[in-house]
Amino acid sequence: MELKDAAHAVRENAYAPYSRFKVGAALRAADGTVFSGCNVENVAYPEGTCAEAGAIAAMVAAGATVITEAYVIADSPSPVPPCGGCRQKLAEFAAKDVPVTLATLDGTEFKTTVGDLLPGAFDAGHMDKS
Ligand code: THU
Repeated sequence: MELKDAAHAVRENAYAPYSRFKVGAALRAADGTVFSGCNVENVAYPEGTCAEAGAIAAMVAAGATVITEAYVIADSPSPVPPCGGCRQKLAEFAAKDVPVTLATLDGTEFKTTVGDLLPGAFDAGHMDKS
């Protein structure tokens, strides 16, 4: 399945009664399997979760931990940039050169990478004391 189609479809299921801003995300895991997620808001606003977080949770729950490609779509005037937290979440499971496509519903796409989305990322090496 194409990531674009998966992200577009899952976006329809987003639960976004507060922001009215539905987001869909799709990830390809190392074996080619596609996982998708949508934003799930909550009346206690900070408890809401982003589409990327949902897709990552679905991937990990299925036993996969390596992202090879990602796609995020929203009905925004320009391709929606993942929030800071989601950039860090993507970086946990994706190499810096992993392609990320950000898209709008009208078909505009912006292609970037996990590394470009989170330059200077904190990683396990920063906890190395030797
Ligand atoms: N949102 C995402 O799901 N992913 C993004 O990349 C940006 C923002 C959601 C969170 C919230 O439900 C809504 O969009 C408005 O911030």
